[in-house]
Amino acid sequence: MSSSTNLLLATKDGYATAAMILADGGLVAFPTETVYGLGADAHNNHAVARIFEAKGRPRFNPLIVHVASAADARDLVVWSKEAERLAQVFWPGPLTLVLPLRAGTGLSPLVTAELPTLAVRVPAHPVARAVLAAFGGPVAAPSANPSGRISPTTADHVALGLSGRIEAIVDGGACDVGVESTIVGLSGAPHLLRPGGLSAEAIEAVLAQPLARPLTQGAPTAPGQLASHYAPGAPVRLDVIRPYAGEAFLGFGPMDCTMNLSPSANLTEAAANLFASLHALDAMSPEGIAIAPIPQTGLGLAINDRLRRAAAPRTT
Ligand code: TXA
Ligand code: MG
Repeated sequence: MSSSTNLLLATKDGYATAAMILADGGLVAFPTETVYGLGADAHNNHAVARIFEAKGRPRFNPLIVHVASAADARDLVVWSKEAERLAQVFWPGPLTLVLPLRAGTGLSPLVTAELPTLAVRVPAHPVARAVLAAFGGPVAAPSANPSGRISPTTADHVALGLSGRIEAIVDGGACDVGVESTIVGLSGAPHLLRPGGLSAEAIEAVLAQPLARPLTQGAPTAPGQLASHYAPGAPVRLDVIRPYAGEAFLGFGPMDCTMNLSPSANLTEAAANLFASLHALDAMSPEGIAIAPIPQTGLGLAINDRLRRAAAPRTT
């Protein structure tokens, strides 16, 4: 276990150091266009085990493998017509595909939590791409936050949660999309496993068919979709029009509030601001955090999904 965490610059030297640490079995956090990921060599069982240790993540929760190209993804999973169509339009980008795992990939079994499927993604962020290129192999990377806490969209957020537990963080500034990738299951009929930074509507338009969607609870979702997640220190109330005294108020659209996700009621802007706002409100140590209603369309699905989990009764 590492005792000091290096902050690496987004430079050629920084990428080379990151790649060396990964090749050595170390953990490196790096920005993607969605959130910061905590990367490990996906072939190295010990390195992948350390991801679970550093995050306090339950072992039954599988990881997304990040690769440089769709061709690299095809080496790991059994490809399909739908996968090809989605990859052509949306990769690199905030979309993760879950497909049957190929035999003989040599990936650590911890990556899939022994499921017969694997989640793969080709990120678009230039720093993520540079780290993947320098390392030259698949990188397993969950969001770089302690399990159950708010996801990180800056290097500072990562350091706050994981400093001293990982070897390095590559600082690439703030993430553009701000919520995690959309996860689509493609073993069987295409289904939405997690709403995210790419709207379900955009995916349905390309597939020319509706995605089967998890109802709300109980229906099939990604195994890591624990009820309580993204939890700030203070209790969270949703769909609030009028906050209580002592509550910090997170607004959406023109209104009086402590912070505003998007004064112009733009869902893309709100997604980009979501986790940073929760981090900032949390740092004010309010008695509670009240959140204005967010429309349930486009990126609103991902925002409301994260907010429901932030507001859910805590399990720890
Ligand atoms: O945007 C993202 O997806 C970020 C960046 C770093 O790429 N990563 C991320 O990873 O959000 P994580 O571990 O926080 O969330 C991955 C989700 C979990 O809910 C996990 O259960 C699900 O993906 N998942 C992984 N493998 C799966 C599989 N084979 N079948 C179904 N769900 C899977
Ligand atoms: Mg996560």
